[in-house]
Amino acid sequence: MVAVSAPGKAILFGEHAVVYGEPAVAVAIDARVTVNLTPCTGEWKVGGTPLDPEKHPHLDFLRRQILGSDSEPRSFQVVSELFPAAGLGSSAALSAAACSALIQASGATESDVVEVARLAHFAEASAQGGRASPIDTSTSTLGGCVFVSDQRESLASWQYTRSLTTPEGEREWEVHSVDLPSKAESVWLVVGSTGIHSPTGEMVAKVAELLKRNPEKEADIKRMGEVARAGAKAISDGDFEEVGRLMDEAHVLLSGIGVSCQELDDMVEVARQTSLGAKLTGAGGGGCMLALTRNPEETAAAVEMRGGRVIVTPLGATGVRVENP
Ligand code: PMV
Repeated sequence: MVAVSAPGKAILFGEHAVVYGEPAVAVAIDARVTVNLTPCTGEWKVGGTPLDPEKHPHLDFLRRQILGSDSEPRSFQVVSELFPAAGLGSSAALSAAACSALIQASGATESDVVEVARLAHFAEASAQGGRASPIDTSTSTLGGCVFVSDQRESLASWQYTRSLTTPEGEREWEVHSVDLPSKAESVWLVVGSTGIHSPTGEMVAKVAELLKRNPEKEADIKRMGEVARAGAKAISDGDFEEVGRLMDEAHVLLSGIGVSCQELDDMVEVARQTSLGAKLTGAGGGGCMLALTRNPEETAAAVEMRGGRVIVTPLGATGVRVENP
């Protein structure tokens, strides 16, 4: 048996703006997806039932890419600590963990993280109509804090270039890791889920429509990019008061492009009373919010009082990890 886990992610800065080429910053969170892969008889299975390519396009893509279409059947068992479809990167974590497990099953002694990130990104793209930024899959694979930009950035360690042919043409991203300073150990993220399902594709389309009708909003997208770059610097400097301030600003900007909702605004407002800053995270319209805090218990309790389901996590978690006994 092969067992591999990978963490979910939370976007700290740059969601939506990253779609328009602006930088974005995400951290791995301490909630993981674990994939167990065992040989089986008959056909490929997921959770004991036959692998349905419609239901599990990522797994189907990866097994074909890594082991080939005629390979011996295997069975995936997936255990997830993440809220599904809530903007916490559960499908990217599944792709990264499954990719690494399949590479091991192919007989490779080690799986190269750049290769895992590459294949996991392609798996996401193939499941999302050819469009996916590499931020989720890179954060799940590398762990820690990841900074994606359209250029090489001096304030973070460059890891690799990811490129993808999308329906709109060739896209390229420079993927960096931001070294987390020791001061990061004194702050926590409280992730609160509204429980409202809000498909990312619909929110991205809504923003595209808004920008078409109100081109002056492009200035806000640019500002989100500046906030993301300043946020990456503040994280690497260990200036978490500044990180919190920038998160507050990011929430105002995201609200201004119509991707917040009352539930997110309420949870953000209540979390701010005991935290350094708070914002929605991911596509918005529902999904999750995020607070950066030195008082995780108080902030989590306040968000729960507003009806949120909560995950408390340090900033950053280990990336893709082999869990074999
Ligand atoms: O909902 P999530 O966490 O998958 O975030 C989507 C982030 C967007 O910027 C809105 C879309 C994208 O492809 O980057």
